[in-house]
Amino acid sequence: MAVSTTPSQLKSPFQYGHRFSIYRRSRYVALLLVFLICTSLYAGLKWQIEPELEPQPEPESEPEPEQEPEPEETLEPIYHIDPGINLTTNTQTALVLGKMRRDNVEWVLELGEELNYTSIIYSMESLPEKSAFIPHTLRGHESAAYLSYIIDFYDRLPAYSIFIHPDKDQWHNDLFGSPTSEVLSNLRLAAVDSMGYVNLRCKADPGCPISMHPLDPTPIDIENKDVRAYMGEIYMELFQVQLKDVPRDVGGVCCGQFVVSRERIRQRPKSDYMRMIKWANETTTTHNFGVGWVFEKLWHQIFGMDAIYCPRFEQCRCDVYGWCGPLASGETLTPVGSH
Ligand SMILES: *[C@@H]1O[C@H](CO)[C@@H](O)[C@H](O)[C@H]1NC(C)=O
Ligand SMILES: *[C@@H]1O[C@H](CO)[C@@H](O)[C@H](O)[C@H]1NC(C)=O
Ligand SMILES: *[C@@H]1O[C@H](CO)[C@@H](O)[C@H](O)[C@H]1NC(C)=O
Repeated sequence: MAVSTTPSQLKSPFQYGHRFSIYRRSRYVALLLVFLICTSLYAGLKWQIEPELEPQPEPESEPEPEQEPEPEETLEPIYHIDPGINLTTNTQTALVLGKMRRDNVEWVLELGEELNYTSIIYSMESLPEKSAFIPHTLRGHESAAYLSYIIDFYDRLPAYSIFIHPDKDQWHNDLFGSPTSEVLSNLRLAAVDSMGYVNLRCKADPGCPISMHPLDPTPIDIENKDVRAYMGEIYMELFQVQLKDVPRDVGGVCCGQFVVSRERIRQRPKSDYMRMIKWANETTTTHNFGVGWVFEKLWHQIFGMDAIYCPRFEQCRCDVYGWCGPLASGETLTPVGSH
């Protein structure tokens, strides 16, 4: 139950059995010497057998510094649309994404033209690309772009904001094959009018019914200092709630692509999003990947849904994409927001 179960509370083995006699101590030293000699012999041998083994990169370290960009891209960034644009008056729907230099987002611009959506693209590079917006932090992958957009456009949001990944194809797009363009062409915005927040994915797994237990990290998470071990305190910080208001279980459909209405975004004051991005920027509890992981688990709650928000697959498919049956059972569903 206690959220403060941190690795520092685990007893070190060196806190025990420190009273050696002189005799036992010298025997201990001798054993240690033998051990050290064996280890170094083994290490030398291993090196001779496997000299080609490269040291493995730190699995959870910050990304490598960017490679040298094109010279003209080190200049002032140039926005692809007027940064002062008022989306409320100029567009109904925005496509929001972050991109790395290697990501080709031509398909987003084409789709935007086809559907009359405005693309708001953030450059996730330390030397930003031309024609992109600059996020308030680079930590947390796409969540940094999403939060930066909300903060930058809070007073001039369009009716619908669609948050997507930059790749044309996503394994987690579940109903129309992998291209996100197919998903978006079939999206029912009426569902967003009714629900405020809609995940683009309907399949429950992974993420539903439960994706984490903020207050009950496993001993392995605690030992590994995994971000899960600190979710209770992170939750309290992000949502500014007391320990008693941290949910025991959190669950939501995965993968960080969703649509939110203007009203739903504004259900929170701008200062909430600023606090969240400040946490992403400054936390030492976790690293870049962990920050993105935290937001992916919490978006539905940030946008006003219950801690566990796992709609029935068939109803989601009907509400969000208009495929309402008849199901194998003979049942035909009614989409939300149909009059
Ligand atoms: C595109 O959307 C804007 C804002 O909703 C609207 O004023 C404009 O007429 C639309 N353009 C086309 C070609 O549908
Ligand atoms: C954007 O346009 C809307 C509607 O025209 C207006 O109410 C709002 O104040 C404008 N926001 C900004 C930041 O100019
Ligand atoms: C993020 O951290 C950097 C460096 O400490 C700082 O310059 C920047 O203002 C911070 N941004 C936010 C959104 O807190």
